[in-house]
Amino acid sequence: MKLSHDELKGLMKNKLMRAGLKEDHADMTAEILTWSDERGYHSHGAVRVEYYSERIAKGGITVDPKFEWKETGPCSAIFEGDNGCGYVASTLAMEKAIDMAKNTGIAVVGIRNISHSGSIGYYTEMAAKKDLVAIAFCQSDPMAVPFGGTEPYYGTNPISFAAPTADDRTVVFDMATTVQAWGKILDKRSRNEDIPDTWAVDEKGQPVTDPSLVNALVPIAGAKGYGLMMLVDIFAGILLGVPFGKHVSSMYHDLSKGRDLGQMYIVMDPSRFAGLDEFKKSMSQSLDELGDMPAAEGFGKVYYPGERAVMRCDKAYATGGIEIVDEIYNYLASDDIHYDRYDNKNRFAE
Ligand code: NAI
Repeated sequence: MKLSHDELKGLMKNKLMRAGLKEDHADMTAEILTWSDERGYHSHGAVRVEYYSERIAKGGITVDPKFEWKETGPCSAIFEGDNGCGYVASTLAMEKAIDMAKNTGIAVVGIRNISHSGSIGYYTEMAAKKDLVAIAFCQSDPMAVPFGGTEPYYGTNPISFAAPTADDRTVVFDMATTVQAWGKILDKRSRNEDIPDTWAVDEKGQPVTDPSLVNALVPIAGAKGYGLMMLVDIFAGILLGVPFGKHVSSMYHDLSKGRDLGQMYIVMDPSRFAGLDEFKKSMSQSLDELGDMPAAEGFGKVYYPGERAVMRCDKAYATGGIEIVDEIYNYLASDDIHYDRYDNKNRFAE
């Protein structure tokens, strides 16, 4: 099923409101989910609405949260999320961080006690669209072994950064720090296909190719990715005084409780460093130089981070809309709020 931006957003907004979210919160959340789907990040788009609706309906997302903005210094602040919708808290906190960075040159903003916030590139892109550079770190539930370990300790702990240019390009880098998402392993399992031995490990911490033996995901680039996961956990967890490491709550355990997740933004104003015009000009030059480089055999081009997402978005609208699988469309178009599919599943929500 192909849908326009407004059709998809409208269906998701309606469902989230039926589950109990306030209209403005549902609107903000549906906008970000649509942003993900139209860029081809389908793992963080409409596919998540049923899970959020179940969690909202069961009380695990505060529908009338008492958000609090506490400045802890001239350029540092905590945004208390009261376990409200992660998308809303993350958007409002970035709006505040943008204002602070415009005033002080840098804003370091920690968001405490929120639910899942989706594709974090949306929030760093918000800053880049206001001529700032930003980096974001976000906790997620433990499903990756530390390098050399046997038990899941860290989440897929994503990192995003974004930067403006002198033209209409925006760099938006946005990645999980695991080699693969758990969803890809479930997909292979359902098709009875092996996985590459670089994706996951068994209970002894050994690489597996049989997806039914997977106990945990592995960090990208071995010990280096492990270090990045730890970086995220320190900045978005330990530094904010929220549960960290293996104590981070599971996405699919007890949907009646808040998740208490942490997220961190560092937003900087280039005008305090190289100067805004020079920064943007150099960014454009850098992207031109990368894009003009002869591509290696097997590659069409050297892309900048986020370029292919914009291309997928343009292609979707040029070919009739955002492709949404029938099962998800049917759920969104139905009167059902959720099908009790997610509560108290194992940590990987099979
Ligand atoms: P990915 O592997 O699709 O892309 C990672 C990055 O690499 C992107 O910035 C992309 O622009 C860049 N990239 C990919 N191919 C490229 C190429 N050929 N040339 C240049 N750059 C290229 O992303 P991943 O790791 O699968 O993450 C997907 C989404 O999941 C992200 O939006 C992330 O924020 C989200 N996520 C959210 C979590 C949460 O708990 N909130 C947890 C984990 C992931």
